[in-house]
Amino acid sequence: MSHFITLEGPEGSGKSTQAQMLAEELEHKGVKVLLTREPGGDPVSEDIREILLNGQDHSVLDRTEVFLYLAARAQHTERIIRPHMEDGFTIVCARYVDSTVAYQGYGSGLDLDLIHRMNSFATGGLMPDLTLLLDIDVETGLRRQSEWNRFERKAVDYHRRVREGFLEEARLHPERIVIIDAAQSIEAIHHEIIRQVAEKLGIGI
Ligand code: TYD
Repeated sequence: MSHFITLEGPEGSGKSTQAQMLAEELEHKGVKVLLTREPGGDPVSEDIREILLNGQDHSVLDRTEVFLYLAARAQHTERIIRPHMEDGFTIVCARYVDSTVAYQGYGSGLDLDLIHRMNSFATGGLMPDLTLLLDIDVETGLRRQSEWNRFERKAVDYHRRVREGFLEEARLHPERIVIIDAAQSIEAIHHEIIRQVAEKLGIGI
């Protein structure tokens, strides 16, 4: 049986490292895994990622940005995530719907209901079975980042709202979102993740 696991969190929380470690651990235990990320994960979505993350600052409007993230997500969900799930893969994905809620909703102040509806339109309603929220305080997270893209140059206040947004979503959806203290060592975080995945989904035991 396939499962859909997402890793979420503010900048510098170590999502990509942990996603990779989780995928390797599950594969080692004989689970068929697809490791992927957003924005990206499909050729079209990776092109959109370039526009979003590596472009010069062309003053992309908040409203434009949300469409780009969701366009990338629509493509990724339909072309990559769903078919792999149908083939029995467990999906490990760094960032998904909660990032848009936290960044574009809580961070940039776009209407939360609208973002939820846009997420649901983009994904056809496909939600993760389990979301691991790697929580880290904003200063520590930003300090950990070696490369600063234009998002990380945004005001610290913006990142505080994003973090609070993630935490609020976790409070609203405790059955799906688990908060992990990302200030711990990489190994300690990994063990906590393995424990949660085994407990909540019964896989990788
Ligand atoms: P990511 O590649 O995960 O970078 P990092 O490892 O630095 O966290 O994410 C890239 C950026 O995209 C990150 O600043 C968060 C942002 N983002 C959004 O604002 N909304 C979204 O829906 C997604 C998926 C990402």
